[in-house]
Amino acid sequence: MTVTSKLIHPQTSEKIVLVTGATNGIGKEVAIQLAGKGYRVIIHGRNPKKIDQVVAEALKRSPKARLETIQADFSSLREVKKMVVELYERFDHLDVLVNNAGVYSNKRYYSAEGFELAFAVNYLAAFTQTMQLIPLLSKSQSARIINMSSVGHRYVWVNPLDIESQHFFWGWVNYCRSKLLQIPFTFRLSEFLERTTITVNALHPGVIVGTNVTNTAFIKWGIPIASGANTVLNLALNPDLEGMNGKYIERYKIRQPSPMALDKGLKARLWIRSFKWAGLNQDEIEEQLLSLSRNGR
Ligand SMILES: NC(=O)c1ccc[n+]([C@@H]2O[C@H](COP(=O)([O-])OP(=O)(O)OC[C@H]3O[C@@H](n4cnc5c(N)ncnc54)[C@H](OP(=O)(O)O)[C@@H]3O)[C@@H](O)[C@H]2O)c1
Repeated sequence: MTVTSKLIHPQTSEKIVLVTGATNGIGKEVAIQLAGKGYRVIIHGRNPKKIDQVVAEALKRSPKARLETIQADFSSLREVKKMVVELYERFDHLDVLVNNAGVYSNKRYYSAEGFELAFAVNYLAAFTQTMQLIPLLSKSQSARIINMSSVGHRYVWVNPLDIESQHFFWGWVNYCRSKLLQIPFTFRLSEFLERTTITVNALHPGVIVGTNVTNTAFIKWGIPIASGANTVLNLALNPDLEGMNGKYIERYKIRQPSPMALDKGLKARLWIRSFKWAGLNQDEIEEQLLSLSRNGR
């Protein structure tokens, strides 16, 4: 099945969208385009100066843009959780959550809590934020969560749960592992969301999109950023995709992810471990999800 179709954008003045990592590359383009279409866009970044620059650029492109900003460094779970509290204080619902923030590093760095950086920023921060934002997303008539994965998830041969391995460091392996984890996470969460008003899907945005992430990975070519951004906009806005849940999409097509990403044992173990890594109460959050499911669409 193909998920591409002509983009039709309904009147959306009340719709609130959070784009994480909106200060560069794909996230920045997605945020600016959404603002241009009348969405109320929350621009997330870690660097206040870069956030201001994106706001200025968005207003230049669309003077009537309705922009909000929020700052948090995703290499700290404390900051992620603080940001969640702030989101609840400032907004009464959330319609689209784009888990876009991502990093590629050629050296071994650690997060504030001691996790390898790509794992912490690309996977754990997104997991932590998403699981805490379910009640806010449930206030939307129809909410969409988009997890930025990558075709790179196919190139993982290490145990993806062995996140403390000190044996060797290779940026590519660590990056791809963080992108692999997005997929079983998406699939497990989608099972809980099946009878709710929230959907979750994972996306690879393009062959290679020429951004910081790909530059750091020594890939010096790529399709234009706007082309990568269109794949996110399609998943976020396309009315034909209403209700689509628990899929892995490469550009505009639903694809079968790698056998490892489909492994049921990995999906089950990752789910349990992620709550522990994130320091979140699994029973409490699962109860929230089950109660949403009982109340139905
Ligand atoms: N480009 C591709 O071909 C490709 C392919 C598959 C998947 N993806 C995924 O698409 C997403 C966007 O990547 P991109 O290619 O657009 O790269 P990018 O231009 O480097 O953008 C990454 C964004 O994430 C933010 N970020 C990085 N570390 C952060 C941290 N510690 N806390 C908060 N925000 C942080 C960056 O903030 P700063 O501006 O402060 O650096 C930036 O806004 C990533 O998840 C990436 O893995 C990209």
